[in-house]
Amino acid sequence: MAPTEPAPLTPHAPAPHALAPHALDDCRALSAEAGWNQTAADWMTFFRSGTVFGITEGGTPVATGAVIAHGPRVAWIGMVLVRGDRRGGGLGTQILKVCLDHCRARGLLPVLDATPAGERVYRPLGFLPWFGLTRWDGAGGGRAAGGMRNIGPADLPRIAEADAAALGAPRPALLAGLAASGAPALIAEAGSGFALGRPGRIATQIGPVVAEDESTAARLIEAAIAAVSGPVIIDLADHHAGLADLLRARGFTPRRPFLRMALAQATPLGTPAHLYAAAGPEFG
Ligand SMILES: CC(C)(COP(=O)(O)OP(=O)(O)OC[C@H]1O[C@@H](n2cnc3c(N)ncnc32)[C@H](O)[C@@H]1OP(=O)(O)O)[C@@H](O)C(=O)NCCC(=O)NCCS
Repeated sequence: MAPTEPAPLTPHAPAPHALAPHALDDCRALSAEAGWNQTAADWMTFFRSGTVFGITEGGTPVATGAVIAHGPRVAWIGMVLVRGDRRGGGLGTQILKVCLDHCRARGLLPVLDATPAGERVYRPLGFLPWFGLTRWDGAGGGRAAGGMRNIGPADLPRIAEADAAALGAPRPALLAGLAASGAPALIAEAGSGFALGRPGRIATQIGPVVAEDESTAARLIEAAIAAVSGPVIIDLADHHAGLADLLRARGFTPRRPFLRMALAQATPLGTPAHLYAAAGPEFG
């Protein structure tokens, strides 16, 4: 038990509350138990730049949900997770409600990428679907077409602008962190697109990939895959079916779907046509 957490007075779980960064190791254990890819650095992004809510039992989180603002209008909700032995008891719904209260108090539109299990919690709370994504996994390496170069600091403003236009919300600090994460960070020499990524617990995640056209996105994804050694995951937007063919040809396999959803808003923000791969369900 963490020394600052009081023992529960009743067998019932306490109300959701904001967790402090000393819960990092327990949060990592929770996401690892679920087979998720997040690292300590990912959790620290939420602790530093957002809020991590938790329901604790005996000082240990058994449920989490994180909220991070992308600019003044949008909040991304992620890391919604209930420990395997505590699912189906309403904890997921409780966590979501506290995340939504947090967004409402700040005038932020809640957006998230739902797993099928999460969707069953979010729909009754008023979330509406925007579009689907599919997680693909495969191996890094292979050949890459030319026309790409590594992102430098001077590229960051342009990348942040293109990303904000595609996503519908700005997140320059997050993108700068990804660019410095050691994962592939590539820009098309013509300036017509970029690909970022980050190291993961299990695989390198490639994304976001934002481009003006599909052929640029395809070359960025091929170059990013080629630059990785080891396992790779990509959360591809389903409206770019041509890229699914490319990944299949590269030996990648579709693993699971996500559904991008927003609270009580049916029309997607931004320009989904320019969004090829997400940064991951926890960041959008
Ligand atoms: C999704 C998750 C957070 C839900 O937490 P939970 O505490 O089990 O959810 P709740 O008990 O609040 O359930 C809310 C509703 O969803 C339903 N539900 C939740 N998970 C379900 C499942 N796997 N299958 C069918 N129904 C499900 C519940 O029956 C309940 O409906 P009801 O109110 O009509 O009874 C939890 O299952 C989990 O951690 N899953 C793995 C990680 C994951 O997918 N997280 C979501 C990321 S977007």
